[in-house]
Amino acid sequence: MCHDCSPASGQAASRRSFTRFLAAGAGLTVLAACTPEAPSAVPPSSAPASASSPAAVTATPTAEGTTAAPATEVAAPAPPSPTPSPSAALPRQFSLTDPASPWLIVNKHRPLVPAGFVPADLVSPAVAMTASGEASLLNSTTAAAAEAMFAAAAQDGVSMVLASGYRSYATQVATYNGYVASRGQADADTASARPGYSEHQTGWAFDIADGNGVCGFQPCFADQPSAVWAKANGHRFGFVVRYPWMFHPVTGYYYEPWHLRYIGMEAATDMVARGIFTLEEYFGVEAAPGYP
Ligand code: DAL
Ligand code: ZN
Repeated sequence: MCHDCSPASGQAASRRSFTRFLAAGAGLTVLAACTPEAPSAVPPSSAPASASSPAAVTATPTAEGTTAAPATEVAAPAPPSPTPSPSAALPRQFSLTDPASPWLIVNKHRPLVPAGFVPADLVSPAVAMTASGEASLLNSTTAAAAEAMFAAAAQDGVSMVLASGYRSYATQVATYNGYVASRGQADADTASARPGYSEHQTGWAFDIADGNGVCGFQPCFADQPSAVWAKANGHRFGFVVRYPWMFHPVTGYYYEPWHLRYIGMEAATDMVARGIFTLEEYFGVEAAPGYP
């Protein structure tokens, strides 16, 4: 199943930055990649135990992010980078590698460390949801931001629901294996993260749906009210559409208009202002179209 991939969606992607990433290692052929229909959800397992440390203010990100300081350390000055990085004027800077950091970048080149990370502060946000069990949980910062965003959407007449939040490592094993069984590994890898590589395991990300359930987890969700509203307004609450349209060569995943990732209001708004669509470009780390 393929969503409309014509460049007339109104998503004013920076042609310059997009071209830069294509030149950095992605193939033009993947421009034709579209969001596939997701298989049915795997029932969540039991709620997780607590662990790890809370998000902490840290150092300015490095060019590649791989040597960014952990939560309590200060990184060396970033070397010159051909890619843009967050404005030094942002009031706060965070680690790119600590799973408890809102600026964590996890992708096919950057697994979670530790692989079995469990957020210490999982809570169930006071929002409308179809999710249950552990999937109803988010970390406390993301939950508070989601509550504000869902309320604002409701005020605008948009019925947004939380469809899937936290996933433990064990749940991601089952989810990913389900995709592999139904689609084969190559296609599964463009729709589902391998265990230890999913933002859902961090509590910083969740999937939304419309209250009426129309087009849930399907390409046509991009045109539903919740997706349109979230794409236009999510940054005001600290969210970005983590796997944007046409950026599969950078993110490694098909367009997921339902998958929102919290990075904080300042950074999310800065990305919009600068016309940057992926965390990889914004934080100056390499594109991750596939697993090494
Ligand atoms: N669908 C996203 C990539 C995940 O599995 O985390
Ligand atoms: Zn998701």
